[in-house]
Amino acid sequence: MSDAVLEIVDLHKTYHPAGLPAVEAVRGIDLAVERGEIFGLLGPNGAGKTTTISVVTTRHLPTSGQVCVDGYDVVADPAMAKRHVGVAPQMPNLDHSLKVWEVLYLHGRYFGLTRREARQRTDDLLERFHLGEKSKVRPIELSGGMVRRLLVARALVHRPTLLLLDEATVGVDPQTRHAMWDEIETLRTEGTTVLVTTHYIEEADILCDRVAIVDHGRILSVDTPAALKTLIPAGTRIELALGPDGRADAAAALESREEVSVVEKSDAGLRVYVSGGEAAVAGVVSTVVDAGAQLQHVSVQEPTLEDVFIHFTGKELRD
Ligand SMILES: Nc1ncnc2c1ncn2[C@@H]1O[C@H](COP(=O)(O)OP(=O)(O)OP(=O)(O)O)[C@@H](O)[C@H]1O
Ligand SMILES: [Mg+2]
Repeated sequence: MSDAVLEIVDLHKTYHPAGLPAVEAVRGIDLAVERGEIFGLLGPNGAGKTTTISVVTTRHLPTSGQVCVDGYDVVADPAMAKRHVGVAPQMPNLDHSLKVWEVLYLHGRYFGLTRREARQRTDDLLERFHLGEKSKVRPIELSGGMVRRLLVARALVHRPTLLLLDEATVGVDPQTRHAMWDEIETLRTEGTTVLVTTHYIEEADILCDRVAIVDHGRILSVDTPAALKTLIPAGTRIELALGPDGRADAAAALESREEVSVVEKSDAGLRVYVSGGEAAVAGVVSTVVDAGAQLQHVSVQEPTLEDVFIHFTGKELRD
């Protein structure tokens, strides 16, 4: 049974900037993020990811459609919806008149924690995000990576059900990025549901249970990274090292298979491009063996999630 923490039904959001044409940033998004899931929104610049997130956090009203966080409608019940969401925004919005610890402490107080709870939570999160030594400085004195860590820590103060990370790892070094991935995995085991947007496609591939590819305000495809990769026509390359006998028969037999798109001669034997991902490999191997070729080695090159991204969104630069 579905147990969605975030449910988005036919969301539309059009901006009306003064004196400028309207911008249809989101044009009909449907999405259900299940409890405990790590879900990724992948899309080019201007695809509508941040706009979608800003409706979930109640920062912007939807133009139409419905968005519920843990059952609370963001329009009908914004206070409760907001209580269940924590966001690390793409654009850092830290109050530079505060000290680092105050950023967390006051956030906790705002969400109803007692002084004692807020102090405890602040100390815990400062330690967890390795900011303890910076607790008394102002955010302006932090490095870029520390700012990102502080934004994630702040998002967690009130123990949200749903954590939204909008480009949370932009500009952080590989050490911090890996530490953040570990942290996100830990949060999941603690029961938090996580929605991330990222331009680091490898990050989505490693981290996300499911990914939605978004462009021009619409979702083009949603699935696990592995399943998305099978959608690329002829996306999987299989290198077959073969003995000298039976190569031509093997090539002919392979060409007659439906999932095989291209068969080429290679130095070691044959190179085959197939649709359907790893599941197609067994059929290719048995075809070669049945044709009488001596199979010496097989290597499989799957498409990357970046290939999937380009397949769905094209190569054209966005405005
Ligand atoms: N406050 C706003 N007023 C007017 N237009 C806006 C506003 N915010 C975003 N837009 C426009 O809406 C579209 C979607 O922007 P959005 O920030 O949601 O994209 P995004 O997918 O987050 O992109 P990026 O990957 O660059 O962060 C863009 O055309 C953008 O210029
Ligand atoms: Mg954005």
